[in-house]
Amino acid sequence: MSKIDTKIKVILLGESGVGKTNLINVTVGQQFYDEEQTTFASSFVEKQFKIGNKKYLLNIWDTIGQEKFRNLTKIFFKDSKIVILVYDKSQNSSFTELNYWSNQVKECLGDDIILAIVGNKEDKDESPDDVNVEEVINFSSNLKAKFRLVSAKENPKGFISFLKELLVDYINKNSNKSVNNDKIILDKKHIKKKKNSKC
Ligand code: GTP
Repeated sequence: MSKIDTKIKVILLGESGVGKTNLINVTVGQQFYDEEQTTFASSFVEKQFKIGNKKYLLNIWDTIGQEKFRNLTKIFFKDSKIVILVYDKSQNSSFTELNYWSNQVKECLGDDIILAIVGNKEDKDESPDDVNVEEVINFSSNLKAKFRLVSAKENPKGFISFLKELLVDYINKNSNKSVNNDKIILDKKHIKKKKNSKC
């Protein structure tokens, strides 16, 4: 395999059934599944991107959406650099659930990450339970997070290009830090902040 310059951990969080597993599967060229397949174990896939003359390997983690496994999911936050909160655009409760996840992410990972909001299932017809996009835009801007509507089912490229955009944001954010093979060398102030983290 050709040389990878940097590995970056990405994690997808959100309620069961919002489409995390399918988004990840289609990102690495696997087929979309119409049947519900509840995730019972966190796992990751690898996706390579070339930006400029460097190669980046994203380790993209799928997590268990079911509420009873929330504490288990938090174990997988460690070392995440890009966090994607996913809701189902046709199910308002899956959006309100993101309040919980955004609080957990802030508490555990602080502000030194790239945070994004994804509304999946854009292909679905309008319904009374649809999430109000204005609300999502407000929510995202309060969190300083980018927001994108996507469809794992009908437009995998939309999610993949959003991932690439987030990777570029991550690279730009860290361009004044020394990025090497597996880790970013951080200044002392940052390390102190991490030690005080509640997670
Ligand atoms: P957990 O594993 O329980 O956390 O769920 P998940 O978030 O991984 O959801 P999953 O990918 O298993 O998808 C749940 C259901 O939503 C499945 O029936 C999928 O076929 C469907 N689904 C996922 N993405 C889309 C989409 O973009 N459009 C439509 N219409 N359905 C989708």
